[in-house]
Order: sequence, then C-alpha cells, then structure tokens
Amino acid sequence: MDFSIKTEDKKNALHNMKTDCIAVGIYENKILSSAARALDADGAITAVLQSGDLTGKPGSSLLLRHIKGIAAPRVLLIGLGKDEIIAEKDFSVAAKTLTQAFSSLGAKTALVALPLDKVRNRPPEWAIASVFSAANEKAYRSDAMKSKKDSSNEGVRKITFYLPGTQAATARDALARASAIAKGVNLAKDLGNLPANVCTPAYLAEQAKKLAAAHQFDIQALDKKQLQSLKMGSFLSVAKGSDEPPKFIVLRHNGGKAKEAPVVLVGKGLTFDSGGISLKPGAAMDEMKYDMCGAATVLGVFAAIGEMRLRQNIIGIIPSCENMPSGHANKPGDIVTSMSGQTIEILNTDAEGRLILCDALTYAERFRPETVIDIATLTGACIVALGHHNSGLFTRDDEAHNLLAADLLAAGKASGDTAWRMPIEDAYQEQLKSNFADMANIGGQPGGSVTAACFLERFTRSYTWAHLDIAGTAWKSGAAKGATGRPVPLLCTWLFNRENAS
Ligand code: BES
Ligand code: MN
Ligand code: ZN
Repeated sequence: MDFSIKTEDKKNALHNMKTDCIAVGIYENKILSSAARALDADGAITAVLQSGDLTGKPGSSLLLRHIKGIAAPRVLLIGLGKDEIIAEKDFSVAAKTLTQAFSSLGAKTALVALPLDKVRNRPPEWAIASVFSAANEKAYRSDAMKSKKDSSNEGVRKITFYLPGTQAATARDALARASAIAKGVNLAKDLGNLPANVCTPAYLAEQAKKLAAAHQFDIQALDKKQLQSLKMGSFLSVAKGSDEPPKFIVLRHNGGKAKEAPVVLVGKGLTFDSGGISLKPGAAMDEMKYDMCGAATVLGVFAAIGEMRLRQNIIGIIPSCENMPSGHANKPGDIVTSMSGQTIEILNTDAEGRLILCDALTYAERFRPETVIDIATLTGACIVALGHHNSGLFTRDDEAHNLLAADLLAAGKASGDTAWRMPIEDAYQEQLKSNFADMANIGGQPGGSVTAACFLERFTRSYTWAHLDIAGTAWKSGAAKGATGRPVPLLCTWLFNRENAS
C-alpha cells in the first residue's frame, strides 16, 4: 500500500481529480459532508440518500459510478454516524469500512476526502493514522510458510488523502509516523506467526542483526557461556531443558545525547512454551509459539524507531529460549539463584516467563535507565481479568510511576492499542513466600497476573518500571488465528510523544 497527500485548491477541485475512486462522508439524517456536497452538483448523491439506499450509519457504504461532471469513475459514500463532530469510535468503524470496500474494488488508486478534522477531541493526524492502520491491517498476509502466496494485488493500492493546505505539513508527519508503526506491527506479526521450528532464539538473534544493520543499531547476542559468566542462573535454568541454545539479545539505538539516560524495553522471548515438566494440556498448545510476542514487540518498535530516527537513547533486551520437558529441565521444587542473587523456588515450571525476565531486568540496571518497560505474554490470569481488549499495565503506585502509567494509558488510547491499569501492592507479595528460598515462582490462583507482576517488581527496585502483560492481546485464536502486532502502536506512540515533550 502506498500513501500520499494532495492539498485542495482551485486547480485541484474535487470533481476534476483524476483517480479511480473518491471516498466522501455521509451523515445520518441524509446530511452530506462538505466534500460530498462538492460532488453533488448533479444531485446524484442527494437522490441516493432520499431513496434510503444509504443510512449514513458507521459501517454503511455505497458505491456510485459515473456521476455526471465528476472525472473519477467511482464515488464511494462512507457513513460517519449522527454527528458532524464524529465520535472516535464511529470514525474507526468508517475507516475499516472504507478499507474493506477499497480491497474489493477494481480501482487501483483512491482519493480519501473524509472530514479528517471533524473527529471529536482528535487532530487530523489521528484520523490519518486510523485510516492508515485499517488499510495496513487489511493488506496483511501471513503466507511466509505457504507454497502459494495469497494474492495481494487486488483492490486499491494507492491511497491519497485530500486535505486543506493548512493541514499538509502535519499530515505528512502523521503519514511518516503511521508508516513506521505499520512496519513495526507487520514485523511483530510476521515473527509471531512463524512456527517455533523456524523462529528459534537463534532466528530472533539473526532478525535483530538484520534490523541493526539496516538502522545502525548496536547489537549483541550473548550465548550460554556469556550468560553463565553473568550468573543468569534463573534464565539459564529454563533454557537448559531445551536443545535450542538460548540467546540474550541487546539492541541499542543511540539517538539521544551520550549522557542521556535510556529507555529500556525488555521483551519475553519464549519461542515455545510447552510448560516444561509442569506440561501444559495439549489443546491449543500450538499457540505457545506466540510466547515470544514480547520479543517481537521490541523488534517491531525498533523497526519503527529506526525508520523515524528518534532522537532518544533506546535499548532493547530480549531473553530468548524454549521451555521444554527433558532430562535437563527444571523440576518442581528446584531452587535457582538469579543474577540479582535472590533465590527462587520453582514450584511450577510453566511460570517460566518471570524466570527469564527477572535476569533481564537485573541486567537492565547497568544502563542506569530512565524508564524500563517489560512486555510479556506472562499469564493466562491476565486474560481472565481483562479479556482480549486491553493489555494489563502494572507499575508501582507512587508519583513517578503514576505519571508513567498515565502517559502509557494515553498512548494506548490514542493509538487504539489500549491497556488497563492493574495493581501492584505489598499485600499480594505475601503469596510469593517460599519456605526454602527467597521467593516462590508462583503465588497461587487468586490474582495470578498481579502476583506475576509482583515477582518481577522485586527485580526492578533501582529504576522506574512498567510491566505490560499482553497474554490476551498479542494474538487472536480461532478462525482468525494470528498475531496482532500489539502493543507496538502503544509503545511507538508513547516514544513519539516523549520525543515531542522533550
Ligand atoms: N506463556 C504463559 C502464559 C499464557 C498462557 C499466555 C496462555 C497466553 C495464553 C506463561 O508462561 C504461563 O504458562 N503462565 C502460567 C502461570 C502459572 C503456572 C502460575 C499460567 O498463566 O497458567
Ligand atoms: Mn508458561
Ligand atoms: Zn510462557
């Protein structure tokens, strides 16, 4: 998909525009948007509304052909809902309807003349990003492993936004940002959807190296020996049950001043989670190839920040291994010593994400970070709590963390990639008590996503930190099975906002 901008002026009047299709908005109660009015000299659009063939409700659309006096052979009417100040949700639905219609037309090029500046409490940039992400979502194919590729040449290939000259500069920025996010989302989806026999820890390290070469990031992929000398006893205990060698990937984007404290993103990279000796049930176990979606998110965000050349120091850390049952695997009751020196009694080998993340979080200390955010498909309990709509956001409850949480939640809302805040409190910490080690790796069923976050919290006390549990949001099950690329949009938007604030 290709996107561009055309500014409206006298010689670019809408009815003269050469394109295969013009999309304009229609409201309920038979009201035309100003672009629709501009195309209605002949009365054809008014006649359609009078006939009742189009309600104008969000989700409704109608294609008209060969209207007299209009150069474009097609006019696509898109319902925008009741109010001329459009509700955010109504515009999102309209954007999806638009791109769905585009995908099934004989048209190759289209001009979008929707009222981008009429969305309630959102700037035109938001509306542009919303159409962009809907089009990107629609065009995505997961056919890397198919012998015959799905056709992607159908429908509109080039979308041009038609807008006033005053909006052009910000619109160009918005396109650049939306395009960077889309690349990041697609990379995260591609990696997530690959099977575990292809997407191994070594494969993730290779992909990180490619990304580093493309965008001049510093890259390290530490192997088992190096991890042993770092004393990552907790991470290595999970890795040792598998024949796939572990990798600990460190990516560095040095876009800020040399002394500026970095943001560190830590992504859970379990390329397969069988549960280990505490083996998972067989049903849908294939979906545990998605247990590296935190890692895929970090790589996706790096693709986007490389593209945008952000002027910030950003570090990505990916501990990656498999969780398998074998003669070398962790056994329930085993006690391991983490890099921090704290000892952990492994009461359930399926609570392995926290065992690899805790050492990565300790490793992050060496960067004297401004903020650390970990991203992990950490707990089934988070799906019970929040379903598939929101990622779980966990931070401590103090001034600095409340500010961070507010910024992350706002970035989620703005990008349509939402999170919901969950508690971290001392009361829950008691559930992690062990009779034999400093802590247990599970806290029982009640509040399972909270006790998992509380476990991680014990390794993050020297910096400002947030944890995103993406178990419910990183992929879809059932007929639409596939990675979502979340929370790449949330994190990119947070980083872009951070750039503008400084
Ligand atoms: N990767 C899983 C979490 C998960 C399960 C994500 C299902 C999405 C869907 C994680 O490693 C895990 O197995 N967690 C256990 C923790 C329990 C043993 C305390 C869980 O959620 O059951
Ligand atoms: Mn597990
Ligand atoms: Zn897992």
